[in-house]
Amino acid sequence: MCGIVGYIGANEIKSTLIEGLRDLEYRGYDSAGIAILEDNSIKSFKAVGKLINLEKRTKEFQSKGFGLGIGHTRWATHGKPTELNAHPHLGKFSYVVHNGIIENYQELKQSLQSNGIKFLSQTDTEVIVHLFEKNYKEFNDPMIAFEKTVQSLKGAYAILLISKVDPQKIYFAKSGSPMIVGTNKNNEIFFGSSDAVLIGKANEVIYLEDEEYGYASSEGIKLFKDQKEIGLNKKPLVGDKLSAQKGGYRFFMEKEIYEQSEVVVDTILGRVLDDKIKFDELDISFLDDIEDIKICACGTSYHAGLSGTYLFERVAKIRCDIEIASEFRYKEPLLNKNTLFIVITQSGETADTLEALKMAKRAGLKTLAICNVDNSSIVRLADYTLLTRAGIEKGVASTKAFATQSMVLWMLALYIASHKNTISKELLKSEIEAIRHIPSVLVVNDKLHEKIKRLSKRYLHGHGFFFIGRDIFFPLALEGALKLKEISYLHAEGYPAGEMKHGPIALADSELFTIALMPKTLLYDKIKSNVEELSARDATILAISPIEFELADDFIKTNYSNHPMSEFFEMMVITQLLALEISVRLDNDVDMPRNLAKSVTVE
Ligand code: M6R
Repeated sequence: MCGIVGYIGANEIKSTLIEGLRDLEYRGYDSAGIAILEDNSIKSFKAVGKLINLEKRTKEFQSKGFGLGIGHTRWATHGKPTELNAHPHLGKFSYVVHNGIIENYQELKQSLQSNGIKFLSQTDTEVIVHLFEKNYKEFNDPMIAFEKTVQSLKGAYAILLISKVDPQKIYFAKSGSPMIVGTNKNNEIFFGSSDAVLIGKANEVIYLEDEEYGYASSEGIKLFKDQKEIGLNKKPLVGDKLSAQKGGYRFFMEKEIYEQSEVVVDTILGRVLDDKIKFDELDISFLDDIEDIKICACGTSYHAGLSGTYLFERVAKIRCDIEIASEFRYKEPLLNKNTLFIVITQSGETADTLEALKMAKRAGLKTLAICNVDNSSIVRLADYTLLTRAGIEKGVASTKAFATQSMVLWMLALYIASHKNTISKELLKSEIEAIRHIPSVLVVNDKLHEKIKRLSKRYLHGHGFFFIGRDIFFPLALEGALKLKEISYLHAEGYPAGEMKHGPIALADSELFTIALMPKTLLYDKIKSNVEELSARDATILAISPIEFELADDFIKTNYSNHPMSEFFEMMVITQLLALEISVRLDNDVDMPRNLAKSVTVE
């Protein structure tokens, strides 16, 4: 949700900022802009739409020598995606970029307007720069002016501000939205709202905490909290740039689907032994008084969590329920201290999930994060974390994050089952064998991909898709439908197959496409009857199953397998490829679908 970059150093500033924005573009791509301060003058450029438009607009410009700059790629919250609403926002002598939402911007704006200040945009962000300039006029000290500005803001923000009144510095502040500062031996300083920007550039980073603010110049970084200077908690930055590139695939999403087999090997590495599941990150006594589990998440992570609820109850014999984080936050939930509260999140920055975690912590629950991004806000807050180890996921439509989350949940269910003695040694061993088989299940078969490519042309119209499944294949149906709607913009729903006759079957006709997940190992006869009911109403059926199904209009044959999770992962790949190929045929932007952003850091 929006991306922020900043740079201080002797490199060409425009290209450094744009390169950083390219790494963040998947987070928001309604508009982009940069502002560069050199020789006491500020140059600013903005363009609506993708970053390429900003690149075209800045083609003729090059910075010379030492300087500094800030940049932003936007996912619109307040005000349409227009050039005036694009960041950086300017006052008379300063520019600001911001990620998050300023909740009290209306009252701040009114008060500034009553002092004769004119606003150019409809954004909440613009108040920051005017407030800074007003405070500067009053106190004649940029640091005090910035501090006072930050103190007036309510909501979530990561801010970078530059000003002609202090042309050697970038001012920064963070509360509720991520911000990372990186340094290297060449005396360069980088800012990013994700460490993806800093990989390959900085070797040490500081993950700013909420309420921290300060400034950076070629002389170093000064960090403050509650008006007192505090020390810098620098950490080495590891990671490689290659993993964040497309590597010959047409889209990041496609690359990430193909990568699933490899990343799941990382997910299970060191955690799956011959006769037990081991999580070095967890202290087993942590589970001692746990009576039940509550999971909280959004979107795809919610779907992974929903499949987890089946596994926790079936395998670990522990009560488990799940809530969508944005619902949980405001329902005044009754929480029990002996509940293990699990949040699942790819980014570790999702605002609703983060707030749900804070609520659970305030209520004294033990908390566990299943997350892909180390050092993210959620990882830093949770008592314990199991990293999913999926690597950088850039496709806005999440794929390998879901695969690795599902794998961690399966392992965790077995881990808890062993701890509670609800699983026999023999069963645990056969589950471990099944886990070890999954990387080969996830290898994308070229013939299958070709078949899905051909078949996709028959699914570009119609009045809707129903993905149906039962048991753990119901969450998979939800996830299949979410993938399709995100990147094809076609209407799709996931439904428990047994529920169709309670209403949705009224929609059935030949233009209703049913994607039926029909595993052999779990409730095959039940789902078969449900699909027959739809077929009798002339719905068009695409059946995915290892067992031939004569009523299917289209059929994708999966492998014979003896474990539901094996079928789950195989069908997951098929639904991902189907969404991808339909989107490609519709000529949509697969990696940056309209209206979406990768990391949803606003409510
Ligand atoms: O980073 P998170 O896992 O917390 O994100 C949650 C959702 O925003 C995310 O899964 C979203 O639904 C994806 N676009 C799904 O493809």
